[in-house]
Amino acid sequence: MCGIIGYCGARAAKPILLDGLKRLEYRGYDSAGLAVAEGNQLNLIRAVGKVSDLEKKGIARPLPGHCGIAHTRWATHGRPSEENAHPHCDCTRKVSIVHNGIIENYLDLKEELLARKHVFSSETDSEVIAHLIEEYFEADLETALLKTVQRLEGTFGIAAIHADCDRQVVIVRRGSPIIIGIGEGEYFAASDANALLPYTQKIISLNDDEMAVLHPSGYHIKNLNNEFLQKEIEIREGRDEQADKKGFEHFMLKEIFEQPQAIENAFRGRLIESEGVSKLGGLEPVMERLKNVKKLVIVSCGTSYYAGLCGRYIFESLSELHVEVEVASEFRYRKLKMDGDTAVLALSQSGETADTIAAIREAKRKGALILGVVNVVGSGIAQITDAGVYNHAGPEFGVASTKIYTSQLVVLTLMALLIGRYQGLSFTEGSAVIQAVKKLPRQVKRILTDIEHIKKIAQEYARYEDFLFIGRQHNFPTAMEGALKLKEISYIHAEGYPAGEMKHGPISLIDENFPTVAIVSQDSTFDKMLSNIQEIKARNGRVLAVASEDDERIAGLCDDVIRVPETLPLLQPVLNIVPLQLFAYFIARFKGCDIDKPRNLAKSVTVE
Ligand code: M6R
Repeated sequence: MCGIIGYCGARAAKPILLDGLKRLEYRGYDSAGLAVAEGNQLNLIRAVGKVSDLEKKGIARPLPGHCGIAHTRWATHGRPSEENAHPHCDCTRKVSIVHNGIIENYLDLKEELLARKHVFSSETDSEVIAHLIEEYFEADLETALLKTVQRLEGTFGIAAIHADCDRQVVIVRRGSPIIIGIGEGEYFAASDANALLPYTQKIISLNDDEMAVLHPSGYHIKNLNNEFLQKEIEIREGRDEQADKKGFEHFMLKEIFEQPQAIENAFRGRLIESEGVSKLGGLEPVMERLKNVKKLVIVSCGTSYYAGLCGRYIFESLSELHVEVEVASEFRYRKLKMDGDTAVLALSQSGETADTIAAIREAKRKGALILGVVNVVGSGIAQITDAGVYNHAGPEFGVASTKIYTSQLVVLTLMALLIGRYQGLSFTEGSAVIQAVKKLPRQVKRILTDIEHIKKIAQEYARYEDFLFIGRQHNFPTAMEGALKLKEISYIHAEGYPAGEMKHGPISLIDENFPTVAIVSQDSTFDKMLSNIQEIKARNGRVLAVASEDDERIAGLCDDVIRVPETLPLLQPVLNIVPLQLFAYFIARFKGCDIDKPRNLAKSVTVE
């Protein structure tokens, strides 16, 4: 979603801001802009479309200033347009701000400011921030921003500059991440460390209700009670090279191919073979409490939600926990009884998803133990959970989540194994899970060698406008995730369904123009899946099956088959999703879609 970058130092700000914006592009956006302070003036460039469009617009304007802020905007209030793009200014054009999040009381504030003769030039909620700063500014931006945020309701990560405050960038956070990057005689602000890694690895993350003032001569951090804070500097790994596509045409394809490594990273050092159990250091501080938990509620969104649905089957196979899975945005509307016996587990790649954060807050209020499985180290969710496990999958840039899904399934398996071994799960059963987990990277590699075959099938199916994906038990969430992958990057309508539900409605859609992708594993659901496929064939539906390598019956029934190796039923989804990711990828490529940045979507969804 929206991205922020800010700079103050000895270098010209504009190239650094543009470069930072490019590194934030993967988050998804529809317009971009920057403001540079120079003399006692602010210069603004904004453009609809890509950062490259902004760059072109700025070619004729060198803007030599050494302090500035920039933004990629994903429209919420007001359509994507130059006027609505950030930075926004006040009436005097002395104040400029960029904002991530939503100001919920902006209409009231706007009305008040209009009554005081402020002139607005955008439809956004964010613009009120610049006008409030104008109202409160006497001599220093810090105090004006402090007074401003006391008036704001909602979520925000804000960076502000003022033409009269020489090379100063002031930032503040509530619910929307913002970090400081520390250089040599220069400072950076960003919503995401990826934007800063070429410049510095020294990062300070602000917590909610903290603000920072950056100037080439130094920085300070305060809370909103105006008290100074000392915060530790973290050294973020130099992972900038991973932002490179490394010869792959898209990040999505690169990340699909990174899955063997990501899966290995998820279990490396976490398996105790001699005891048939896993070891998750991040859960140790809460282990005593966790052993007594009776109910587990998994909350997450999108792909992470489907991983959660899969997680339910995994926990039910290995532990005695009662498991519920909730879409995070619906969580607050449920009247779920929660107490010390309940653990809530949040799954999130970014660790920034606003709906998931809101669900965690709700669960905290009710007294549940809060756990997280998060990929981005130090992210918001990682900070507010009681304990958790990192995926260590490396950054995921493609908007369509791939390697995190399979990594999440492996981490969930390790968690279920850990809890299950305190319950009824035997050493032999635990050992079988460990052996199966260890084989996964090799098995995924084998699927990836089938790329040309999958590409050919994708080419044949690219002409259809609707798809049904079906599976049972562990593969029902695989069907949902397979359909999501296809719809989000190729804009083709696709529905994921539990195969048994087909006869209760969706079968009426089936004809020769409505193909079905059937995920058929050799488990207890096999015969029933074959019956469902026959029902589709009887109605002239084309069927593509994802099936086991040694399944001899499937080829005679289906039009096309993609083969995958076999593993334990609870881990089969890790393998079955891989060809479906490639299938979606190639269909989108044949259709010429913008695969890494699909329309209307953002990588981190930081608004509710
Ligand atoms: O960062 P998170 O895992 O919390 O993100 C959740 C969803 O927004 C995300 O999985 C989204 O559905 C992806 N575009 C799916 O590919």
